[in-house]
Amino acid sequence: MGCRTAIVGTGSCLPEKILSNSDLEKMVDTSDEWITTRTGIKNRRIAKKGEETSRIGAIAAQRALAMAGVAPEEIGLIIVGTMTCEMTMPSCACLIQKEIGATNAFAFDMNAACSGFLYSLDLADKYIQSTPEMKILVIGSENLSSRTNWQDRNTCVLFGDGAGACVVSGSHEGRGLLASNLFSDGKLWNLLYMESARSMNPDLVRPERNGSYIQMSGKDVFKYAVRAMEDSVLQLLDSQGISADEVSLVVPHQANIRIINSLTERLGISSEKIYINIHKYGNTSAASVAIAIDEANRAGLLKDDDLLLLCAFGGGFTWGASIIRW
Ligand code: UT7
Repeated sequence: MGCRTAIVGTGSCLPEKILSNSDLEKMVDTSDEWITTRTGIKNRRIAKKGEETSRIGAIAAQRALAMAGVAPEEIGLIIVGTMTCEMTMPSCACLIQKEIGATNAFAFDMNAACSGFLYSLDLADKYIQSTPEMKILVIGSENLSSRTNWQDRNTCVLFGDGAGACVVSGSHEGRGLLASNLFSDGKLWNLLYMESARSMNPDLVRPERNGSYIQMSGKDVFKYAVRAMEDSVLQLLDSQGISADEVSLVVPHQANIRIINSLTERLGISSEKIYINIHKYGNTSAASVAIAIDEANRAGLLKDDDLLLLCAFGGGFTWGASIIRW
């Protein structure tokens, strides 16, 4: 049997501080009712000092390593899906490497916005195909609270901080990643974006830009996200000859409960098979799928041989789906 990339340990780490919808009612012109019905979000976590992107990513990684029974020195590669590390250089992956003592790894970040974890998992699979004995940490970690305009009710109610991690390695037992279906469309970049730090090159300074907050045309993103995630999932299942009925659990990116419900309907899958934690954490971008996998795993929702379906959509645009035999 060929080699597949199997998840052998999962972990997550959420900052302690909870920001509720009623807290937000005191900050901007919004209501618990609006946020709940339009998004499904009730609470989100907000990082404080000592809970930087690399720190929570490292804790999630340590929890995944402990579950896998893998020592940090056994890790050959660390890939971190993130767009909000506390440093631009070095990468979040290098900071996590230092923090956990993964002295034999090479490490880099993957910026695919909210699809970062799926992109990273797919890339890890390519390394495993050439080096099956390799053990890889695939992490999603974000600190979106640092890039949120807390006066903009259109965006500040949506996002939260958190990290999730998986240890993956080669398996010859048939379990692991069966296939991924990934896409990008850079033409639509300006519907969802966040600028870099202000340029120090006077020729490149753009005074018309208003800071480096997340900017989003919510309605356009919503429409595109629904269609893109549904199409990529259906194409993926079709290409693998898998029917929606055979899927045991769907872990979608947690951006909006209405997007998730629409996906559930189009797949014709029962809602008990969809993992949802958006009410607790909001949208944590690249961390969201990784956190949800860890929670589902620790809750015993994933059994040997189960088919786990992942899907995500984010800035870029980037999107896609993956199917895993657990
Ligand atoms: O993770 C990456 C991908 N991101 C996504 O997938 C997010 C996709 N988009 C969405 O989830 C939704 O578009 C939102 C939740 C962002 C917005 O929901 P919507 O149903 O598309 O609302 P809308 O933007 O059309 O706004 C409807 C109304 C507007 O008022 P008017 O113009 O109708 O008077 C907004 O100003 O709701 C108003 N509004 C709010 N009201 C109370 C917008 N934000 C808020 C708010 N509280 N926080």
